[in-house]
Amino acid sequence: MTKLIVANWKMNPETRTEADRLFKESRIKAPGVEVIICPPFVFLENGRKESLGAQDVHWKKKGPFTGSISVSMLKSLNVKYVIVGHSEREEDDRLVNKKVKVCLSEGLAPIVFFKNRQELEARLEGVRRPGRLVLTYEPPESISANKGSRPTSPEEAFSMSILARRILSNKYSRGLADGIHILYGGSVDSRNASSYELDGLLVGRASLNPRVFKKIVTNVSQKFSHQEQKGAVKG
Ligand code: PGA
Repeated sequence: MTKLIVANWKMNPETRTEADRLFKESRIKAPGVEVIICPPFVFLENGRKESLGAQDVHWKKKGPFTGSISVSMLKSLNVKYVIVGHSEREEDDRLVNKKVKVCLSEGLAPIVFFKNRQELEARLEGVRRPGRLVLTYEPPESISANKGSRPTSPEEAFSMSILARRILSNKYSRGLADGIHILYGGSVDSRNASSYELDGLLVGRASLNPRVFKKIVTNVSQKFSHQEQKGAVKG
């Protein structure tokens, strides 16, 4: 499975010029890794050459919703992924669930955040087919900007991914569950990136520093190719 590395720029950078530079410097090709850039809405159009994600979407396809962005608008800019239910947005599970459903029914891949089992189950309630669903395990206390934060240990993140995979497998099938990327997010940097044994990473603050971000991507790619080689020798 290709590893996904998602750059969540949050409310950065401040100008279009800086966004153009950040896009250019974040253009990193590494074997076995897909890099997805999630800029603020206003910069999506500048990322024509990237694999793009949005940071949110409205749950209704159309309507009088001032300030909102719809799935069709995102699709028209070639956006393939949407971050849904980030803890910084403080949305309740029912709203997140509606957003997950509109993305899946319209062919966008939702990157759904969860901090525990209960949240994961509530957010996927009634989702009959997972489509291109992506999950991110991110407890809020691991987000770098939060007071007293610290990254979740690789062991804990791994065991949450196993639990999530079991939930998916019971809900759908083993085969479908195995195809769903489960990522870890929260204070990922170039020193800890390769210790997480999940299907990829979601990177906030460190994605704004192209030198560090490049290191994260190459570290993950190198570890991945090493594992693949070992697998090939064994198999
Ligand atoms: P962080 O942000 O990497 O700065 O902790 C994570 C996120 O974007 O949710």
